[in-house]
Amino acid sequence: MAWKNELATRNLRTSVGGKPILRGVSLSIRPGEIHAVMGPNGSGKSTLCHALAGDPNFKTEGTASLDGKDLLGMDISERSRAGLFLSYQTPPAVPGVSVANYLRTIYNAARAPKPPISIAEFERVVKKEMGALRMDEAFLDRYLNEGFSGGEKKRCETLQMALLQPKYVLLDEIDSGLDVDALRIISHDILRLRKERGFGVMVVTHYARILKFLKPDFVHVLHMGKLIRSGNAALAARIEREGYDKIIGDGSR
Ligand SMILES: Nc1ncnc2c1ncn2[C@@H]1O[C@H](COP(=O)(O)OP(=O)(O)OP(=O)(O)O)[C@@H](O)[C@H]1O
Ligand SMILES: [Mg+2]
Repeated sequence: MAWKNELATRNLRTSVGGKPILRGVSLSIRPGEIHAVMGPNGSGKSTLCHALAGDPNFKTEGTASLDGKDLLGMDISERSRAGLFLSYQTPPAVPGVSVANYLRTIYNAARAPKPPISIAEFERVVKKEMGALRMDEAFLDRYLNEGFSGGEKKRCETLQMALLQPKYVLLDEIDSGLDVDALRIISHDILRLRKERGFGVMVVTHYARILKFLKPDFVHVLHMGKLIRSGNAALAARIEREGYDKIIGDGSR
C-alpha cells in the first residue's frame, strides 16, 4: 500500500532487452529523509534511478509511487512534474543548447499547465539560485555540459535541482569527480535545499566520504539487482573498511 508521503517501490523489477537487472527492489523514502544506495559496479544503482525517473529503455514491473500517485503509468516529463528529479551519473553534453535556454525549457515544462515565464523573469529566478549556489553567471551562456569539468557538471545538476523544486531527488554519484572542497560545497548545497524545501533524497555513491557530510538516515546495499542489506551510516563505514565481499556473503544467505 502506497502512503501519501513517500517515494515507494514494491518488488520493482526491470529488464533491458530481456536481460533482468533489478530483481525486486522495495524501498520507501519519506520527505526530508536521506537514503544512500551503495553497491558494487553493475549492481543496478543507476538502473534504479533511471527506472524511477521513467527512462523508456527499461521494461519495468512491480509498483512505484510518489506521494500515493502511480509512477509507472507516467512518462519522464509527467514524473518530473509530479516532483521527481534525477541528477545523472554522467550528465550528457548538448552542443548548441545554452545552459540558459536548457534551464528555462525544463523550468517552464515543470510549471505546466501554468503558462511559461518570460525570459527576463526567468533570468531573475535563475540568477537568484545561482547566487545562493555561488555559481558564476557566465555559465548561462555556455553550451550545456560542453567542456565542463566534472565538478562544473555536478554544480549544474545542483542548479537544476534548485530550480525545479522537486519533492524527491535521485542523485546518481553526485560525488564522482569532485575534489574534497567541491564535495563539501555540493553536500552543503544539498543539505540547504533539503532544509528549505523538505525533499527526500536517494543518493547513490561508492564512498563513505560524501555520507560524512550528508549523514544519511538509511544506507542500503544493492547487489545483483536486489537490496541485500539496509542499515544506518555505520554500514557505509563498514563497507569502506571491509569492502563488499563480506557484506554480500552475510546478506545473500
Ligand atoms: N541500456 C542498457 N543495455 C544493456 N544493459 C544495460 C543497460 N543499462 C544497464 N545495463 C546493465 O545493467 C547492469 C546494471 O547497470 P547499472 O548502470 O545500473 O549499474 P551501477 O550499479 O550503476 O554500476 P556503477 O557503480 O558502475 O555505476 C549492468 O550489467 C549494465 O551493463
Ligand atoms: Mg551507476
